[in-house]
Amino acid sequence: MNTETTAQDDPCCANEGGIARTDATGRTEMVPELLAWTTSLEHDRSLVREDLLGSAAHVTMLRKVGLLELEDAQKLRGSLLRMFDEATAGKLVLADGEEDVHMAIESLLTKELGQVGKRLHAARSRNDQVATALRLHVRDQAARTLGEVSNLVTELAERATDEREVVLPAYTHRQRAQPITAGFLIAAWANQLLRGADALGVALDRTNVSPLGCGACSGTSLPIDRDIVAELLHFNGTTSNALDTIGDRDFVLDWTWGGARVLLALSRLATDVIDFTTSEFAFLKIGDAIAAGSSMMPQKKNPDVFELVRGKTARGVGNLNAMMMLVKGLPSGYARDLQDDRQPVLDTGPLVRGAVRAVRAAMIHLAFDPERCLLAVSDGSTQATDVAEALVRKGVPFREAYKATGQLVHLAKEKKIDLAKLLLADAVTVHAEFDADVLAVLDPKVAVRAKKSAGGTAPERVDEQIGAIRAAAYDLNYKVGNIPPLEAIRAGIEAHPL
Ligand code: ARG
Repeated sequence: MNTETTAQDDPCCANEGGIARTDATGRTEMVPELLAWTTSLEHDRSLVREDLLGSAAHVTMLRKVGLLELEDAQKLRGSLLRMFDEATAGKLVLADGEEDVHMAIESLLTKELGQVGKRLHAARSRNDQVATALRLHVRDQAARTLGEVSNLVTELAERATDEREVVLPAYTHRQRAQPITAGFLIAAWANQLLRGADALGVALDRTNVSPLGCGACSGTSLPIDRDIVAELLHFNGTTSNALDTIGDRDFVLDWTWGGARVLLALSRLATDVIDFTTSEFAFLKIGDAIAAGSSMMPQKKNPDVFELVRGKTARGVGNLNAMMMLVKGLPSGYARDLQDDRQPVLDTGPLVRGAVRAVRAAMIHLAFDPERCLLAVSDGSTQATDVAEALVRKGVPFREAYKATGQLVHLAKEKKIDLAKLLLADAVTVHAEFDADVLAVLDPKVAVRAKKSAGGTAPERVDEQIGAIRAAAYDLNYKVGNIPPLEAIRAGIEAHPL
């Protein structure tokens, strides 16, 4: 909705009083400009299917506990499920002029069913209703996002296997540090992404409880059964305190945190890719299919996709930030501030999945340049620690070995040759324990093979890591498989006898 539009020319203001207006609010309409400014309807349209399912489950429960006659329940549920189908087909038209999607649906229902439509809202408030729609939405979105992250992680595991022979430097302080394999680097990216996925999994679990039946803030005097609704909507249970529930958006904090975590992981991967495709590093070649050009510099081949992944991370973190600021200092209970959760909630899923898909699609157009990679660790300096450790294996105390290797580095510099080219005859002048075996680790491939400690870069260790990554991605996908899509929930409600 364009909030700049004035009340006069905005059709949403041509309302007939609004369904949530009573004698108490006065017999007049709300100031049209303020209704237009305060409505959440435009954003809420994305929650319409979730809201309809919540209502259909509510009707089923009201019937079960005897608060609705059979015929009324049939009519109400029939209309709600039909609207769900229309919404799925993009054909449900909601009139403007209501405060939110909940009112708009009730108004539509009442137009269609008359008095019967007015029975729907017994034993609930929009406060628990909006929490229900939001939780269904977040659960669905978190599951979908988790599924896509785990697919990316699985692909990274495959790629890590393919690149297990490529040797390149690892960096600390963005200075060449030690040789690793590209498979090990990719496994590092995957591990970080898995932690983001875990955070999404936590969001999924914490979201998965039913708030419906909490009413406005303290429950209801009507004889409802919240478990029936929870079961119909496939929630794991019900929330425990009505006052807490209606003002609770912690599940949105978890959701936006999970989304931000995945984006943060992707943004760090993106920086590696961006750096490694520069001619300064030149470890990765960027395929024509994903390279962007410059409008002025004909020679440019830019990694825009990865820069955008990094850039969009700002919005993901912004969504989390917006939610934290939104709940900060709110009183217990409900406050209308909470309606502004909509933008961060709705934005997060498409934002994160878009970035995940972009990385998946772009990854296959990146090729390591094994020679360039190897060249960067071939002078031997990045293997200095390995030399020191080889001395330690021969019984030299580490500090002594460290010092001797430092002297070796210095000697190579003096002689203006690479450390890897230093002769054994020169090395023994620094320390008597230097021998051919010790100097052999100056070969980066030998050094990599020697890093056999758990979590290390030796090929067999990387294979273990890849196995663990695959297993974790599989588990996450299993978790996703337990979340029914909205269509399945719809079918379950319809099949439930009234
Ligand atoms: N329009 C609000 C939202 O969508 C719900 C209103 C809740 N309650 C109220 N008394 N205004 O978040």
